[in-house]
Amino acid sequence: MAATCCLTNGSDEPLPKIRRVPVQNKVTVVLGTQWGDEGKGKVVDLLATEADIVCRVQVFCCCKYILMLSWLCYVLHPILTHIGCSGISIQSAGLVERFETRKLMRLTWWRENLIVSDRAHIVFGFHQKIDGLLEAMKGHGKLGTTKKGIGPTYSSKAGRMGLRVSDLMGSQEGFEKKFRALAELYQQQFPDLEINIDEELENYKTYKVELQPMVKDVVHYMNEQIHSNDNKTILIEGANATMLDIDFGTYPYVTSSNCTVGGVCTGLGIPPCSVGDVVGIVKAYTSRVGAGPFPTEQLNEIGDTLQKVGHEFGVTTGRPRRCGWLDLVIVKYSHVLNNLTSVAITKLDILDGFDEIKIGVAYKHNGKPLPLFPASLEVLSEVEVDYITMPGWGTPTSECRKYEDLPKNAKKYLSTIQEILNVPVKWVGVGQSRSAIIKL
Ligand code: GTP
Repeated sequence: MAATCCLTNGSDEPLPKIRRVPVQNKVTVVLGTQWGDEGKGKVVDLLATEADIVCRVQVFCCCKYILMLSWLCYVLHPILTHIGCSGISIQSAGLVERFETRKLMRLTWWRENLIVSDRAHIVFGFHQKIDGLLEAMKGHGKLGTTKKGIGPTYSSKAGRMGLRVSDLMGSQEGFEKKFRALAELYQQQFPDLEINIDEELENYKTYKVELQPMVKDVVHYMNEQIHSNDNKTILIEGANATMLDIDFGTYPYVTSSNCTVGGVCTGLGIPPCSVGDVVGIVKAYTSRVGAGPFPTEQLNEIGDTLQKVGHEFGVTTGRPRRCGWLDLVIVKYSHVLNNLTSVAITKLDILDGFDEIKIGVAYKHNGKPLPLFPASLEVLSEVEVDYITMPGWGTPTSECRKYEDLPKNAKKYLSTIQEILNVPVKWVGVGQSRSAIIKL
């Protein structure tokens, strides 16, 4: 018989009690609640000025974020740390190109503030080419992807064939072997795909040297930050938006990652109990890019006006976005998924010129009310929307900086949204500039 092992000095006393160490510094998460382009940037900018650490989860798309003003100013801010995390795919080639631009601008020191997770997956040039090939092959069933290679990178990740930053930081032989295997696999699947493997491998030797100083174990780093005793303010910006979540969004017209609050935990490697405030960004109307059902869409003059006045055109593609009335069924669903602690209503000023404004408040299918947003796109494409109609305010709001300055009917619009959502409205965006925001 095996000897009995006793860890408590042979005593049969009960195990001593262990005090749970609470999370010291909970993170604040900012998420889009609709189909993206809600104007998250302004709220993130505002909150980032008071943050010690700003993290970006899901996709760190360098073309947009390193060059776009908001990310540029965080990265240039000496006290902020930027993290590209493990749930993320990172375009190292793009990132290194941006380093070169910054170098020319003599802005080299900002790199000290940027952290890239060693678990981040790498978006290769061939992932971008495959994105284009797949979209072309789909013909009418196109998803309308941005062709940045994000979908194919997540496919490589799920297929356990992807390469992570830690592979790039490891031995050249190991990286080369995995890179060749992945590139050759894709070449078999896509005979038209051209990849200059040797040239790419040579380039990656340079990227490795450039990236190395920024690479960290983000799980360990974040664990230290959330348990640190010196009151760190940690802000996390989720990429995309709730309705683009691969599981809970309008699948298949979604992105390749989880954009809801759970994706923040899996992306950064932090436990759910470390999530504090969750700020939902709600545009005062609804827009969406590409195909898929859109119950409150206005294929009429109203939609055209929202598109024109709201400058609803893609930043990189210039593609017009489809527009319609605010759909609170969607935002309520987003609240169910993310447990929003407050919301920011953006682009209220875009509604200034309307005599009458509608809000979608419920869906019916075959005459019966639906309890929540449906999973089936077939059902979604057949729903009838119940609207409430409110009077417009007919006065410009873009100069308002206090809630009291807003026209009575604009206040009514906001209080109706707050009442239906049962979540406090904390910010209201009234114009494009950073200062055009009302704090409640
Ligand atoms: P994604 O992360 O790509 O989904 O976009 P986003 O939600 O971060 O949107 P972003 O911050 O890029 O803002 C989109 C556009 O809306 C920008 O041109 C902003 O200047 C503009 N914008 C943001 N808030 C307001 C507002 O309150 N009023 C007006 N008129 N424009 C705004």
